[in-house]
Amino acid sequence: AGTAQQGTGLVGDGSLTLSLLQVEAAQTTPPFYLGFATAAPQIEGANATDGRGPSIWDTYEAIPGNIDNGDTSAVADDFYHLYLNDIAAMRLLGVKRFRMSIAWPRIFPSGDGQVNQQGLDFYARVLEALLVAGIEPHVTLYHWDLPQALQDRFGGWNSDQIVPIFAQYAATVFQALGDYTTHWTTVNEPWTFCFLGYGQGSGAPGINDKVQAWNCVHNVLQAHAAAVKQFRALVPGGKISINLNCDWAQPLTGAPSDADAAQRKMEFMLGAFADPIFKGDFPASVKQRISFLPQITPQLAADLNGSVDYFALNHYTSTFVANQQGAMGLQGACDYTETQVDVNGKLIGDQAESDWLKVTPWGFRLMLNWVNNRYQPNEIVVTENGMSMKGESAMPMPQALQDTQRVNFCRDYVAAATDAVNLDKVPMTGYFAWSLLDNFEWGNGYSKRFGLVHVDFKTQQRYYKASAKFLVNLFNCTVLDP
Ligand code: NOJ
Repeated sequence: AGTAQQGTGLVGDGSLTLSLLQVEAAQTTPPFYLGFATAAPQIEGANATDGRGPSIWDTYEAIPGNIDNGDTSAVADDFYHLYLNDIAAMRLLGVKRFRMSIAWPRIFPSGDGQVNQQGLDFYARVLEALLVAGIEPHVTLYHWDLPQALQDRFGGWNSDQIVPIFAQYAATVFQALGDYTTHWTTVNEPWTFCFLGYGQGSGAPGINDKVQAWNCVHNVLQAHAAAVKQFRALVPGGKISINLNCDWAQPLTGAPSDADAAQRKMEFMLGAFADPIFKGDFPASVKQRISFLPQITPQLAADLNGSVDYFALNHYTSTFVANQQGAMGLQGACDYTETQVDVNGKLIGDQAESDWLKVTPWGFRLMLNWVNNRYQPNEIVVTENGMSMKGESAMPMPQALQDTQRVNFCRDYVAAATDAVNLDKVPMTGYFAWSLLDNFEWGNGYSKRFGLVHVDFKTQQRYYKASAKFLVNLFNCTVLDP
């Protein structure tokens, strides 16, 4: 007990080489740090091990038709047993920061009440191993794996009963693990789990109700504020934020109404969370349109004020947005429509493997500027950026390892962010690539690969992709392959 299995051992990186162009790109070191990101439910597996309770994703995955190919997260990358292997792989690569999440159902198998010490011990071992390897952990408390018991008891994020329970979970984690790192976030991509999970049913808990989705937004804000209160008391000197995601909205035409619509889309997607935190209220555009919007009370506004120490942004892609009175979207009445093609039918960017993901590095720079201008945060850390490469899942492994489309994606997105910092003076300090490993991509199961390290899901062997080495070379300004 207490020791991890060594797993399958490290696999060599074969004969991957970097092209001259890639090496040349590596001559400019970006003005921000690099990290690799993951999330517990996508990599750990071991869903019934050492007392972990069921999560809403376990339940959702078990329903036929919900996940491509009937995949489940039961084994995933088996990180639960192979974490030493994966930490060693990062150390050999030269990765210095690692973003991970804690699985709530490992700490409280039924959401609250009895703490499961084995869950806390697992994360203590992982965090210890990271520190020994010289890798700085960045820890997220909640990456979508709500204990099923809380969904059953009061409807999960639809109810404000979750607020004190989340705060209690947060306090338990801060007390037990707060000494391992100063870098924390409360909740990952609430837009995604509120509007897809509760508002559309295309993720756990599979509910299709816009009222619940906006209740979720409001309860996430309260839960975040309550957790940060615990954090201030228990992790003095630590820095905390909430991971918010947004696509860049490009006006479909030059019409001023489309410019307004694009602005409105970002207010609905990012402003729904960031405005209450930075400005004390929901955006006016949202308040005008969502009749059942919960209120941000003066007390909540006060609690949210100063509740993030840096802006944590997840960003992948861009869409075209057009004004359309009466249009309903994922978030309800919004008066805009979104497309991936322009008025001539041209795609906004190259297609990745995931339907929703187009390669639009120019949008990244615009997005960073939008965040900076609207919120003026001290610091922006991009806590996710990456891609599933078109056709990768069907490729023979050697080809999947020479992931040129992903190398180019990383090169161009990092360059766009570098311009945002150097030319536009955006205070971006960090960049996390999604993801360390090919992993359980939610409704897509294992059919979309976002890893910088390839995983053979039959053997659990890992193989570095060219993109992993490219990124480390770019940031460390060294060339591994002569
Ligand atoms: C956002 C989510 O946080 C992460 O879990 C997911 O895998 C990536 N985007 C890619 O879709």
